[in-house]
Amino acid sequence: MAPADDDAPIFLIGFMASGKTTVGRLLAERLEWAFVDLDKLIEDGAGRTVADIFAAEGEAGFRKRETEALREVAQRRKTVIATGGGAPCREENLEAMLGAGRVFWLHVSAEEAVARAGKVSGRPLLDGAADPVAEAGRLLDARRPFYERAHAGMDTVGLSAKQIVDELLTLSMAISVMAAEETEALKG
Ligand code: S3P
Repeated sequence: MAPADDDAPIFLIGFMASGKTTVGRLLAERLEWAFVDLDKLIEDGAGRTVADIFAAEGEAGFRKRETEALREVAQRRKTVIATGGGAPCREENLEAMLGAGRVFWLHVSAEEAVARAGKVSGRPLLDGAADPVAEAGRLLDARRPFYERAHAGMDTVGLSAKQIVDELLTLSMAISVMAAEETEALKG
């Protein structure tokens, strides 16, 4: 169950190019909340792009920075956070998000993700692949068990960012109602 606190952060999780940044920015605007793109925060902290961090420090170096950045943003209030596709796939990261706020999974297929990302996407895990759709499919299969643990999820293919935001606001409201009912029930 998501925390009952309505000001707790909202985390958007999902595969690369699932629209987390575009949707997150719009959702924050609608809520009049702050918006944080976790990759951008990591880049600002490192003084280099995600691709350069992977090149210089390896994926392990990037993941370490990602966990640290996530731990910090999870403390924020009234903030929508768009995470990188691999962020929830480390148990400690996922648990930090689930405990701190509401976690929504934006679904996208491997084919759609690769089509959206384009040939030179700046995403080291796709750019280096000989067969990007096959690689995306393999990664997506490995990550689905983590993504599925979100408080709620929705398909994004064929929907505009506005439609996705409308649906997320509905889902968020439903979570608020359930959380309030659960708090009441606990009071007995
Ligand atoms: C990654 C996704 C990227 C970025 C990095 C690793 C992943 O973010 O964090 O390239 O492991 O899926 P987006 O999901 O915003 O593309």
